[in-house]
Amino acid sequence: MKKVEVKTEIEELMLDELNSIEQNLISRAQEISKQAYAPYSGFHVGAAVLLENGEILQSSNQENVSFPTGVCAERLVLGYAGANFPNSAPIMLAVVAQRGGEETWAGVSPCGICRQTINEVENRFQKSVTMLFLGPNGLVRRVKGISQLLPLKFDDLKS
Ligand code: THU
Repeated sequence: MKKVEVKTEIEELMLDELNSIEQNLISRAQEISKQAYAPYSGFHVGAAVLLENGEILQSSNQENVSFPTGVCAERLVLGYAGANFPNSAPIMLAVVAQRGGEETWAGVSPCGICRQTINEVENRFQKSVTMLFLGPNGLVRRVKGISQLLPLKFDDLKS
């Protein structure tokens, strides 16, 4: 037997250490999280995506009484991007979350299905997506490319 260690790299930095493009994308995600439809979880998520053409799109999570029917903010915004801007690669994605009634930003990290969705976007456009996840007290996790979050991902039907 051989053990294989898989290492991934995640950067942690403070909000004010980000450049203005990154800070703006986080603000857009914060703004849209206020419009989340999350009556079941009370977890209000906002996602904003920057396309290569400079366009910024944003979405919140949209829940359903039948739980699996609800959609995460990340998947909604990336689906909208793919449908409406098929020729412009998403290059950066900011995700934030807040529990209803709380002022602080909760730590958030995409679920497995959203990770697989981000992987598809990278494959489709052959560009890596830089991800920014806001946490409590202004701490941001910056992740360059989905491989850092989804090692050994399901990537092709042939091999
Ligand atoms: N959610 C997202 O929208 N994005 C994430 O990264 C984590 C979870 C949503 C799904 C559900 O509406 C609620 O947050 C609680 O899981």
